Amino acid sequence: MHSLRALSTILFAGFAVQTAGLGFISKPGMQVKPYKRELLQDIVTWDEHSIFVHGERVLFYSGEFHPFRLPVPGLWLDVFQKIRALGYTGVSFYVDWALLEGKPGSFSAEGIFAFEPFFEAASKAGIYLLARPGPYINAEVSGGGFPGWLQRVPGIFRNPNPAFENATDLYAKSIGEIIARAQITNGGPVILFQPENEYYDCLDWVDPCPNPIYMQYVEDQFRDAGIVVPYIVNDNNEGNFAPGTKAATDIYGIDNYPLGFDCGSPYTWPANALATYLTETHLENSPTTPFSYIEFQGGSFDPWGGWGFQQCLELVGYQFERVFYKNNFASAVTIFSIYMTYGGTNWGNLGHPGGYTSYDYAAVIKENLMVDREKYSEAKLEANFVVASPAYLTSVPANLSNTSYTTTSRLSVTPLLDDESDTKFYVLRQSYGSKTILIVYGGEGEQHELAVSNGGEGTLSEGDGVQMGKRNGATVLNWSTSSSRRVVQLGCGLTIYILDRNSAYNYWVLKLPNENGLYAPSGQEASTVIVKAGYLMRNATISGDTLNLVGDFNATTDIEVVGGAPNNLATLNVNGQASEFTQDEYGVASTSVSFNPDISVPSLSSLDWKYIDSLPEIKPGYDDSLWRNADLTQSYNDKINITTPVSLLGADYGFLTGTLLFRGHFTANGNEEDIFLETQGGSAFGSSVWIGDTYVGSWAGYDAAANGNDTYTLPNLQSGSEYVITVVVDQQGMDENYVVGENEMKSPRGILRYRLSGHAASDVTWKITGNLHGEDYEDKTRGPLNEGGLYAERQGYHLPGAPIDSWSSSGGPTEGIDSAGIAFYGAELELDLPSGWDVPLSFTFVNSTSANAPGSSAYAYHVQLYVNGFQYGKYKNHIGPQTSFPVPQGIWDYHGTNYIAFALWSLEADGAKVEGLELTVNGTILSGYGDIPMAPMSNWEQRQGAY
Ligand code: GAL
Repeated sequence: MHSLRALSTILFAGFAVQTAGLGFISKPGMQVKPYKRELLQDIVTWDEHSIFVHGERVLFYSGEFHPFRLPVPGLWLDVFQKIRALGYTGVSFYVDWALLEGKPGSFSAEGIFAFEPFFEAASKAGIYLLARPGPYINAEVSGGGFPGWLQRVPGIFRNPNPAFENATDLYAKSIGEIIARAQITNGGPVILFQPENEYYDCLDWVDPCPNPIYMQYVEDQFRDAGIVVPYIVNDNNEGNFAPGTKAATDIYGIDNYPLGFDCGSPYTWPANALATYLTETHLENSPTTPFSYIEFQGGSFDPWGGWGFQQCLELVGYQFERVFYKNNFASAVTIFSIYMTYGGTNWGNLGHPGGYTSYDYAAVIKENLMVDREKYSEAKLEANFVVASPAYLTSVPANLSNTSYTTTSRLSVTPLLDDESDTKFYVLRQSYGSKTILIVYGGEGEQHELAVSNGGEGTLSEGDGVQMGKRNGATVLNWSTSSSRRVVQLGCGLTIYILDRNSAYNYWVLKLPNENGLYAPSGQEASTVIVKAGYLMRNATISGDTLNLVGDFNATTDIEVVGGAPNNLATLNVNGQASEFTQDEYGVASTSVSFNPDISVPSLSSLDWKYIDSLPEIKPGYDDSLWRNADLTQSYNDKINITTPVSLLGADYGFLTGTLLFRGHFTANGNEEDIFLETQGGSAFGSSVWIGDTYVGSWAGYDAAANGNDTYTLPNLQSGSEYVITVVVDQQGMDENYVVGENEMKSPRGILRYRLSGHAASDVTWKITGNLHGEDYEDKTRGPLNEGGLYAERQGYHLPGAPIDSWSSSGGPTEGIDSAGIAFYGAELELDLPSGWDVPLSFTFVNSTSANAPGSSAYAYHVQLYVNGFQYGKYKNHIGPQTSFPVPQGIWDYHGTNYIAFALWSLEADGAKVEGLELTVNGTILSGYGDIPMAPMSNWEQRQGAY
């Protein structure tokens, strides 16, 4: 059985074997001249099989990666290189409008939000880009990309609605122009463009759905901004906006998440998840464009209180790739983008309420940028196979009901519909020198057969146990796969490496750059160097008789250049260092890299921690005169009819991110017994209430609860005295806006209802604050969402250079506080890590084992952590699941002083402390990447008008 599959797989690759030449069937009723609008450029074109770039067919094999989830521009090239090392040719990226227009009418894309460095890094790595700027993106970000101030914009979103459409204009024009400048027509990497995102789901009364007038509006916005590359649509396989329909895009595409997003049962795949109708439906929807996946499941998101990404990795791991990706290849997908390939981090409040800080996504590249998941290796083998198989691009799936189109019904050409078919090939070709290399691999113990037409005589130059013979003019090899390698030299010039899968993981195909030092993304014909190494190989260059390799090593590693080394190799540099090497009669060069790490980081308990109270608002005499009066008797938000005398919703007053605080002033009459409050902050939010400096109670929240109702008993109040109720509400970001008509994004944040017994609601006058100066946010470097309304944040005390010397000495977050409140801890931390080492670091919260102790998991408290001013984690002790918070180099200064800060909010009467907190070294990798410049940073300065 395996041998048959082996043959069919090679045919699939278009490789010359005995059964080749049978050709591919043609699609019934296929139009010869596909419908196309008049092209605005002639560099990127397409037919029913694939796109072309400069006339060459290109497989757009792509990974989704969001630069805004990695706010270190110096690391973008790292991600691109790791994606290129997979064999991919492209990256798809969303743009998050909410981060670029924090105040309506002010668009800014500078520093960590600038796109030019992202485009440059893509070009440098040889990666083509698919741009997806929305304006709606979903993407598990706050508002699905819609800025919070849209809550004040009337009417239905993502529908013809001038108020909404006008609100998108500045963004669409500004980002459209930025992307337009980076199109391939201007020498940039952008070759495809997706307007809107999954625009098809509506409430019943929204008619038509989706609305082509709105879609046309979006398309025109970006055309007017100068976008000329093909438009591609991300649809649900119903043909919306396919060529020939209203508001048609150029290329029709779909998305699919066959395993869904519940990581609770990772060992059970849903029944019928494996689509068998893909090709038929595509031909019905869009016979003139390539079969395209704009998003195919690459992992899963995970909610507050969820299972954690390790368990998602079990669900959507390498086995999933083996079965489901191959099923897509069987449909000849040639635009194939995997969501996510690098997930990153929901730092600085950018996430939606349904997710926590990590957006690891169980993607092939970990949140901390490591590539040691088996899922990465498997993805690499598969991508290398199809990318190295030019005939794949014009292949047509076999007759859809009859999978056999060979002369023998025992051969199947629609391959790999189940995990049993572990046998796979990947064909690696290089044209430097005169060698062609084929690497084949399978599972250990499997029997394989491989036939090469006109292969000539075979010699086993390494290993044993390969039977060789001739059949119908072809050289036929037979073997049982084992962990020991065999190498066969065929008379036709082909060298065949026979491996087991785990060994194949160590092989890297490195494209050589052109004379300008650039890598060609398409690369069907590019020269390559094929290297057996270990953890990661990034680059190879050749000049004369010198070969330069750049890679990363997590152990002492033997390197073998199995193909592509100059024949009389004189110098072999690894990461810039000349290494001793040997070269054998077949040109294979061997060397090794030794690995002697000497890495240490300070323990957090050794730091000189300082403490300041971050809830001075409850202190007698606190002055809130600079706070905004909550004086709007109507809300701008048309999703809600407020029942409070004045609006107590953050967005009505421009407070769109992070913690909200309210102060309600009233004169007691002695009849107060309790207070009822309905607060809303999004999933897993919490709220706490004080009267004067007396703690009244908290809504501690739980995973899915977006909203909390509680009645709190009040202490005896003195009739005739003035009191202040202080309410703290943890705003968790805005909801997404997936279903048109629901306007979910407008779900308000703040106090929805209150009742103070013995009083009319209007007896209370309210003040509100969130982040300092709301939409005129202070920190232009870290953007509009990074800081919320905590006192310490309003003062900028999370920023490097905060005046901690004047604060009290403290044991830090593990010392904690003994009553409900909000504590703020800061400390300086020196790092002195050696250059040339990639040392991913994370903060790890260690839970107590003693139930009901202040640190135990039953205890309700929140922590927000900051590194050099970037909010890089929201930990909720009683909700979870995240306990480890990676922070990248570039936010960390690995060679200097860092400022770290923790806000600790106890939602329990007797306080809270973090039971254990560690700075953890997650990996030690000798890296060829080079220096990583710090993300742009601004320091603390005394803030004008801060309160
Ligand atoms: C898709 C959507 C993406 C993302 C994904 C789930 O449907 O287009 O933006 O939300 O689901 O991670």
